[in-house]
Amino acid sequence: MNRGFLFGTNFKMNQTPAETALFLTDLAGLPLPRRPVQRFVIPPFTSLPAAAEARAASPGGANGAGSIWIGAQNMHEAAAGAFTGEISAPMLTALGVDLVLLGHAERRTLFGETDLTIQPKVAAALAADLRVLLCVGESAEEKRIEIGPETVARQLKIALHGLDPAAADRLQIAYEPVWSIGADGIPAGPDDIAPIAALIRDLLVDRLGAAGRAVPILYGGSVSPQNAASFANIAEIGGLFVGRAAWTVAGFNAVLAAALADDRQAPSARG
Ligand code: PGA
Repeated sequence: MNRGFLFGTNFKMNQTPAETALFLTDLAGLPLPRRPVQRFVIPPFTSLPAAAEARAASPGGANGAGSIWIGAQNMHEAAAGAFTGEISAPMLTALGVDLVLLGHAERRTLFGETDLTIQPKVAAALAADLRVLLCVGESAEEKRIEIGPETVARQLKIALHGLDPAAADRLQIAYEPVWSIGADGIPAGPDDIAPIAALIRDLLVDRLGAAGRAVPILYGGSVSPQNAASFANIAEIGGLFVGRAAWTVAGFNAVLAAALADDRQAPSARG
């Protein structure tokens, strides 16, 4: 089912449960854009119950028009066991979580996650009926030596290995070049993103057949109100995944409004 433009934020290690609940309540109270949009918020684990409660109490609830998906930032592939400090898919679904973020660049670079450790998580999350937002993207070094496409292809092929095409309707891919993420990041330009988005689409179709055509591909990395429209208008980009600029409700809405302001707008901002 096509839910329209996908737009959401990852709080990373920010916001208490009370702050997250307020964010969800305020966001749910805002009018929806005219164009269909599926919004999502990915708070820390400790904020997930508060986020789910705030959403349930909001006018759209968990399933109504304008409902907001709630996501977790990671999970373990086992359902339960002796894995201190980890969280499993059944624990997330029991809280009413809709989606899990897997393979974020910070998990790969700071916490040692690899394609081979991410793949079983993707399989377990989809088997547990969670939606998956899988992040891929090359490092600055890989870009410099011109193996960005090879890196993204490898990440995607391994993460989706063995995937049943029937699960593709719960899958979304975020292309987030590592060099574009965070305060020191340089936003990618449409010329960087378009060829990789096309490559991701080809791999999805190759791997999943017709189901691969409908998998949303998002861009993420230093997205702001100034550059959002230039990304949203790229062929194959069906959403945006935002960090810092969307950590307030006003910021979230400003980036979303900018992204949807004018579909015909020429790419104007690269930074
Ligand atoms: P940023 O983060 O928008 O703050 O660069 C993006 C991300 O990490 O997904």
